[in-house]
Amino acid sequence: MTIRNNSIALLSVFLLFIAGCAPEEVPDQDVDFHTFANVDDVVVTHMDLDMVINFDEKIIFGRASLQLNNLTGTEEVVLDTRDLTIERVTLDDGDELAEFSLGEFVDYLGQPLTISISHETERVNIYYQTSPEAAALQWLEPEQTMGGEHPFLFTQSQAILARTWVPCQDTPGSRITYTARVEVPEGLMAVMSAENQQERSPDGIYEFTMPQTIPTYLLALSVGDFDYSPLSDRIGVYAEPDILEEAAWEFADTEDMMVEAESMYGAYRWGQYDIMVLPPSFPFGGMENARLTFVTPTIIAGDRSLLSLIAHELAHSWAGNLVTMATWNDFWINEGFTSYMTNRIMEAVYGRDYAEMLWHLDYQELVATIEEMGEDNPDTRLHLDLRGRDPDDGMTAIAYIKGAFFLKMLENNLGRERFDEFLVHYFNTFAFQTMTSEAFLTYFRQSVLEDPIREFPAENPDEIDLEEQLMLDEWVYGTGLPDNIPVIYSDEFASVEDEIESWVTGTDAAELDVENWTTHHWLHFLMNLPEELTHNQMVELDNTFTFTQTENSEILNAWLLHAIEHQYAEAYPALEEFLLSQGRRKFLMPLYSKLAETPEGLEMAHEIYRDARPTYHPISYNSIDEVLDWQN
Ligand code: BES
Ligand code: ZN
Repeated sequence: MTIRNNSIALLSVFLLFIAGCAPEEVPDQDVDFHTFANVDDVVVTHMDLDMVINFDEKIIFGRASLQLNNLTGTEEVVLDTRDLTIERVTLDDGDELAEFSLGEFVDYLGQPLTISISHETERVNIYYQTSPEAAALQWLEPEQTMGGEHPFLFTQSQAILARTWVPCQDTPGSRITYTARVEVPEGLMAVMSAENQQERSPDGIYEFTMPQTIPTYLLALSVGDFDYSPLSDRIGVYAEPDILEEAAWEFADTEDMMVEAESMYGAYRWGQYDIMVLPPSFPFGGMENARLTFVTPTIIAGDRSLLSLIAHELAHSWAGNLVTMATWNDFWINEGFTSYMTNRIMEAVYGRDYAEMLWHLDYQELVATIEEMGEDNPDTRLHLDLRGRDPDDGMTAIAYIKGAFFLKMLENNLGRERFDEFLVHYFNTFAFQTMTSEAFLTYFRQSVLEDPIREFPAENPDEIDLEEQLMLDEWVYGTGLPDNIPVIYSDEFASVEDEIESWVTGTDAAELDVENWTTHHWLHFLMNLPEELTHNQMVELDNTFTFTQTENSEILNAWLLHAIEHQYAEAYPALEEFLLSQGRRKFLMPLYSKLAETPEGLEMAHEIYRDARPTYHPISYNSIDEVLDWQN
């Protein structure tokens, strides 16, 4: 062992020497370029937060006490902040004022907060205020909620926005436990990504404890007029009173998903699992905040047809929350694993046909993304280089779907049983730790390819070179799609394609066999219509299938894209209503982008956006501003 270490040390000196001469250094995969924190010297292990939520001023007045583990005896701790006003900083019990300074602002990253400490300092206490423009926070007026009577606040910390409401070491490579005391206006409810109350505090004071360690992007808070409804003894839903019952009905299968997920991937380690239904301006579909998933109300379709999103956020309880990407460059370690597991959970609960449809829809999206990006584009690699960029740039179908197909390919080659077993070991081995692409490949090779006890794949004991067959490096470090990507076939979708064909060749829409079609059949139908559609054809489809009136947000979104493309003005009022009534970036971006393709469309987009923009979350309007070239 020592000998090996020595030779590794020698080797690294040698490599360092070469690297010094080489034009470009390849950084360690666990170095996070999206934090200022000096985590190699000192790590924050625990935070005690004290926050007063002021809706009138749209400010959080906070005190964050950070417990330090000073690894190297450093004399300063550097934290991430963005748009925070720092009032003062004290050390330990608070008697001693500390020196601190805020560094220069860097795009996306914000400003480093450098605090002088000694090697004996155990805590730093930061007294601060957030800005009304804090990107993680959306302060909603009562009219922007369902109930219409109370204001609402929610946070969105991922990717690097926790630093806009809490000064912290904002990197997925470090983990903390936390407690919080939060004061909100009397009568309102408050929940966090922690152990939560299920009843309101009459005095508006809430205390939270988060006993499991999390990365800071999972810090979350939601304050408003909402209540709790249990779905099982460990799962429940928070939602505004007006939709609580509907939400509880929609998400009733969550316990079944949990049972299936646990049987495949090992015990759920976070105690409670709750779902917080946010107001419609929530910019994402879902966010896997620890113990408390945040979701958009647009998945409440009334028929439980959009639940794969719940399966997705639930799956993050293993992939992402338990074993966490070390940096944003390995976003696929979170999202690719999760997307794969989502389809496995959906298969376990709803059957194979259902899962095949999901895989098929995923595949189409992946192919379209790669076509759009170009197959040589470096951003089509699983392991990304996001240095100097917004980590949100990594939120593409590559991390999600290419990542999922990579794991599906492994499953196909190893056999399901063996691959599931591998994943259980993976989650247990690296629980509450971080992961990189490189570490994953090493672990995979050690535990699967070099496993002396077993012969794999079990069904195929002949001499095949698994390493060659799996093309591991090509998947992780190569662009485009490797040749061994699994082929997806869906019987259900084949019949949808038959119906399209028959409509295109003259059958009336009303004669098509659409009995028992689910949301996913319809999505496939809409996404595979011919590119050219006449006005009469649009009218025929709409009159027959009432797309413009649908209550299903995914179907409506897919239909409205056609409506814009073919200038089907009958759907414009619905389009406007959809853009004004919800703020989910996944819907807004394609719709506004499509509108922006023609001068008339752009004009309409600007008109709608003028009214809609103030209701959107910063995450959404920052993206749309670019698409519409919007000047404030
Ligand atoms: N963790 C993501 C959301 C996210 C990613 C927020 C990066 C900020 C930066 C979440 O789990 C997610 O993937 N949500 C998807 C839904 C999912 C079903 C694909 C979304 O919101 O669209
Ligand atoms: Zn996700």
